[in-house]
Amino acid sequence: MTNPSSDSIENVLHENRKFPPSESFSAAAHIKSEAEYQEMWDRAKDDPAGFWGEMAENLDWFEKWDKVLDGDMPDTKWFTGGKINAAYNCIDRHLKTWRKNKAAIIWEGEPGDTRVLTYQDLHREVCKFANVLKQLGVGQGDRVTLYMPMIPELAIAMLACARIGATHSIIFGGFSADAVADRNNDAQAKLVVTADAGWRRGKQVPLKVAVDESLEKSPSVEKVVVVQRTGAEVTMVPDRDYWWHDLMKGASAECEATPLDSEHPLFILYTSGSTGKPKGVLHTTAGYTLGTMMTSKWVFDLKDEDTYWCTADIGWVTGHSYIIYGPLANGATTMMYEGAPNWPDEGRFWEMVEKHRVNIFYTAPTAIRAFIKWGDDWPNKYDLSSLRLLGTVGEPINPEAWMWYHKVIGQEACPIVDTWWQTETGSIMMSPLPGVTATTPGSCTKPLPGIVPDIVSKDGTSQPDNSGGLLVMRQPWPSMLRTLYGDHDRFLATYFNEIPGCYFAGDGARRDEDGYYWIMGRVDDVLNVSGHRLSTMEVESALVSHDKVAEAAVVGFPHDLKGEGICCFVTLKTDDGTDELKEELKQHVRHSIGAIATPDTIRFTASLPKTRSGKIMRRLLRDIAAGRELVGDTTTLEDLSVLAKLRESEE
Ligand code: WT7
Repeated sequence: MTNPSSDSIENVLHENRKFPPSESFSAAAHIKSEAEYQEMWDRAKDDPAGFWGEMAENLDWFEKWDKVLDGDMPDTKWFTGGKINAAYNCIDRHLKTWRKNKAAIIWEGEPGDTRVLTYQDLHREVCKFANVLKQLGVGQGDRVTLYMPMIPELAIAMLACARIGATHSIIFGGFSADAVADRNNDAQAKLVVTADAGWRRGKQVPLKVAVDESLEKSPSVEKVVVVQRTGAEVTMVPDRDYWWHDLMKGASAECEATPLDSEHPLFILYTSGSTGKPKGVLHTTAGYTLGTMMTSKWVFDLKDEDTYWCTADIGWVTGHSYIIYGPLANGATTMMYEGAPNWPDEGRFWEMVEKHRVNIFYTAPTAIRAFIKWGDDWPNKYDLSSLRLLGTVGEPINPEAWMWYHKVIGQEACPIVDTWWQTETGSIMMSPLPGVTATTPGSCTKPLPGIVPDIVSKDGTSQPDNSGGLLVMRQPWPSMLRTLYGDHDRFLATYFNEIPGCYFAGDGARRDEDGYYWIMGRVDDVLNVSGHRLSTMEVESALVSHDKVAEAAVVGFPHDLKGEGICCFVTLKTDDGTDELKEELKQHVRHSIGAIATPDTIRFTASLPKTRSGKIMRRLLRDIAAGRELVGDTTTLEDLSVLAKLRESEE
C-alpha cells in the first residue's frame, strides 16, 4: 500500500484532540445536532430513494421524475423521467426572489481588478453566451472545451453550456497543448473557449498559443472563442477564431433554459488514473446538481448573508462543485480569484479575506503548508475576524498544518471541515458537519447522509475498527460518475472490479472506534502532488517519449510542501547522464503534461530493479526515493546489484 507521508500518519494514529463546535455555532447551523444527523443518515441508508426524493424537492424541475433511483451500482440512473436544467437551478430560479440583485460572483483578478456579477447580471451574460454558442453551431449533446483563466467568463461559459445542454470539458490552464489535444480528441470537442492569456505571478500564461498548437492535433474542433484578458498578442485564424467581445455585442439576452433529461451529460472532467491515458469522468445533470447543492449547504453551512470563498481553480472538480454549481444552486455569494496566493506578496489571500469580509474559506493542505512557511506575520497583518468556518480538501492534512489553520487563521473560533471526496464522487462524501461533529486533526470524520462507506480487505470482507483497508462505498449516491467518457469498460474495471458490488475509491483508510474515518492515501499508482492527481504512468510515458530515454519508473516521495513529490528513475540509451540532461528531461515532462507534472528529482540508473516476471519493483524505488531504509523482501530481485548502484547514486 502506498503511504505518501508516513510521518503524518504516525501522528494521526496518536491523535486524540477533539474540537466540538460551539453552542452558538450549532444553534444557528442548518444541521444542529448529532441526533439530527444520525436520523438523516439512517433514513438515507435504509431508504435512499425516499431520502433523495425528498432532497430533490430543493431543486426546480420542469417535469418531476418517475423514479428516484433506477438500477444499482455500477449502472445507476437517478430521477429518471424528470426534466431539469442545472443553469436554471443556479440562476433563473433566484431571479424570482429578492436574490435577483444579490452578488452571485465576486471576482478579483490577479492585478487587482474586480467585478461583481449579481444573479441578474449572471443571467444576462449566460443567456447571451448561450446564444453565441448556438450561433456557432453548438447544440444539445455537443462537447465544448473550456481552457481558460479564472475569470468570470469561465463561469459564464460553463453555465451557458449547461443552459443549452452542451457538455463542457474544462481543462486546467496549467496543462500543456498536448494535454489539450488529447482531451479535445477524446471528447470530440466541437468548440474551444479560451483567452489570449491569463495572469500568474505577474506573468502571462499564453493560453491561445497552446490552443493553436493543440488544434494541429485535434481536428474535431471547428471554432475557437477567445476572451481578451491580458491584451497579449495572438494570431486569430479567419473563420475559426472569434473574439468573445465581438460575438457578445450582438447577442440577444433572451435564451430559455432547455429542459433536459435528469441523466443528460452535464460535463466531462479528465483526471488521472493508473494508466497513462486520462479518464473522462462523466457527470450528469440532476444527481450532480443535487449532490453539490445539498453538500454545500450541509458542510459549509451556507447562509444567504455569507461571503464564501473556495480558492481552488475551476479546472479541478473542487472548483466545478464548490465555486460554481453547489454555491450558486443555493443562491449564495461565491468568490473567485484569478491568481497566485503570493502575488504581489504572501499576504494576498488574507488581504482579500479582510477586504471582502469572507465568512467561509475553503482551501488545500498544500496551500496551508505554504502559508506556514511564509510565516504568521502575513495573516496577522490582516483582520480575519469575519471568518466563521474553514475547510480543506485534496489530500490528508497533517495535524501540524491543521492546528496552525485552527489557531492562526481560525483564531480558535472556526470549525474546520476536512472534506474527503474525488472527481468521481462529484460532491463531498465524508466531512464533519460544522454544527455537529467534534473535529480532530487529520480525520475527515464521518460520512454525509446518503453515503455508506466501508473498510474492506482485498477479498471484500469488512474490517474491524482500527484495522486499515480499502475504502469502498456500499450504496450509490446521486452525484457519482456515470461512466468514463467513451470507455464504459474502463469505468467498470476501474471502480467496480476490485470489490464486487462496491465502488472502490482507490484510497486506503481506517475507521476508529468513534466511527471516524482516517484516509491513508492512494493504494494505486496515482500520485497526489499539491492536491492534484497525477499518474506515475503519465509521467513515465512523457519521459520515454524523449529521444535519449530508454526506460523510466516514476514514484512519489514525501514532500514538505507538495505532500508528494515526483521522483523519476531513468535509464538512458546513451551515455549522457549529465545535470543538463536532467534539466532537459524535467522541461520535457513539463512541456508534455504541464507544470504540475514537473519532476522534483531525476535519477539516472543503469537498469531498474525488476521482479523475475519483469515487473518494476516500485515499493523498493519508493523507499529509495524517500531515503528510507529498505524494508521487505527483496530476494525476488532479478539483479541485486542494480539496487546497490541505485543507492550509490543517491544525491
Ligand atoms: C483523491 C481525489 C476532490 C477534491 C480534490 C481532489 C485525495 C481528497 C482528501 C481529504 C485525504 C483526500 C484522495 C482522493 N483526497 N480529499 N480530505 N483527505 N485525502 O480530487 O483529484 O479526484 O483526487 O484526493 O486520495 O482519492 P481528485
